[in-house]
Amino acid sequence: MGAERTPVIAGNWKMNGLKQDGLALARDVAAGAGAYRCEFVVCPPATLLAAASEVLVGSGVHLGAQDCHAEPDGAHTGDISAAMLVDAGCSHAILGHSERRADHGEDDATVLAKATAALAAGLTAIVCVGETEAERDAGQALDVVAAQVAGSVPENATAANTIVAYEPVWAIGSGRTPTPSEIQAVHAHIRSAIAGRLDGGAAAAMRLLYGGSMKPGNAAELLAIEDVDGGLIGGASLKAEDFLAIAQSCP
Ligand code: 13P
Repeated sequence: MGAERTPVIAGNWKMNGLKQDGLALARDVAAGAGAYRCEFVVCPPATLLAAASEVLVGSGVHLGAQDCHAEPDGAHTGDISAAMLVDAGCSHAILGHSERRADHGEDDATVLAKATAALAAGLTAIVCVGETEAERDAGQALDVVAAQVAGSVPENATAANTIVAYEPVWAIGSGRTPTPSEIQAVHAHIRSAIAGRLDGGAAAAMRLLYGGSMKPGNAAELLAIEDVDGGLIGGASLKAEDFLAIAQSCP
């Protein structure tokens, strides 16, 4: 982790959390967060965003959504615009998570449009990239993530308004992770792809998160990797104790 980049510990709750347990989790994270030097983001399901924003007031913990629509308003039944997320108290939004790319057929152009809308509304975009197991086995991991960065990170992205998360699809929820040297190789490649798309200064300062089976037991090793600037955590973000224990491992 570069000393000049403040680490980000972000929790993607996915489709988990009803009012009682979800808000208790947000409250516990808020209560514990002050003790750490990293930035925290929690991304509950859309149904809990407005209430979670009340719980997080004054804690310094940022609130993120898990998606947004590319259009500002209109006839898009069931969808939520970036401005609506801001209105509900969000400062961040995850875009292009592999589960949305797979479940909802989101391609790079869709993710780019959503990320562009998020930035226009003043949100920080957390843009996700990552290869499938077949792509890794075929030796294509670096090419796949570079193409996803080129296709999904907006041209007006900066280190202040955009975070990129590397989440190998095969590591999500599986208990398996790439080796530290494999992760470093991908993160360094992502940083150079960002330098190619934006500029070297933005690339050097942008936070790159690792996601995929990060937990208290492996966080110290993963967060010590040079170009890993934090984590995007799924399963282990659902218990405040585990989520905060990961933050404890930030160097
Ligand atoms: P897990 O931490 O459960 O592997 O999920 C990672 C993820 O998809 C975060 O967005």
